[in-house]
Amino acid sequence: MTDPNAAPIPKATPKATQVVWHPHNVSHLQRAEQKQQKPCVLWFTGLSAAGKSTLANALEACLFAHGYHSYLLDGDNVRHGLNKDLGFSDQDRIENIRRIGEVAKLFADAGLIVLTAFISPFQADRDMVRALLRDDEFVEIHVAATLSVCEQRDPKGMYKKAREGKIPSFTGISSPYESPENPEIKLDTGVLSVEACVETIFSYLTKNGYLAKPNLAT
Ligand code: ADX
Repeated sequence: MTDPNAAPIPKATPKATQVVWHPHNVSHLQRAEQKQQKPCVLWFTGLSAAGKSTLANALEACLFAHGYHSYLLDGDNVRHGLNKDLGFSDQDRIENIRRIGEVAKLFADAGLIVLTAFISPFQADRDMVRALLRDDEFVEIHVAATLSVCEQRDPKGMYKKAREGKIPSFTGISSPYESPENPEIKLDTGVLSVEACVETIFSYLTKNGYLAKPNLAT
């Protein structure tokens, strides 16, 4: 996946300890108010080919059409840039999600509705991102197609290669996936249409006040 012509990624220097947080003149509430929405992180998790990117893309198009401000972070794309130095060992997946969590936190602070589409196989890492964010900012969406459905879809031929032992540590085959214990939303994309899933999420966001003018007093 890594571009062979890419410049080498510099090694990190020793950790900075003398760093002080600098306050901003414009608050996260003002940024949200300007956008007339309650920022949040819609965290799509599920097996490869479960439909995370498809749903996140369709939902973002729907939000955009309704005038909301959003940004989509997608595993395959982020691994071409920010996270191109990471592979699929447990440690690298943990670091992948840690970085995405921090980026999502910044984008939510900017007032955006952030959509993320990563396998994010470990409950502890998803919980870690939840803990980074403000109360109610993290919405865990389990894209819950079964392994057999995902394997039948196999849009990139990766399950076949993984079964042949050509892709090591492949989620669901030779690397674990921990289903969310208590997701805000669970969608079985083996049964539901994309439109039905988008409608479910959109109505969850509406009912829970994410798409309304935020209350600056809170
Ligand atoms: S995560 O586990 O670290 O959250 P992420 O969502 O970023 O994974 O990337 C998953 C994508 O990378 C898959 O959709 C697939 O296209 C590709 N991929 C390549 N190797 C693997 C692997 N060993 N396991 C899972 N996905 C892989």
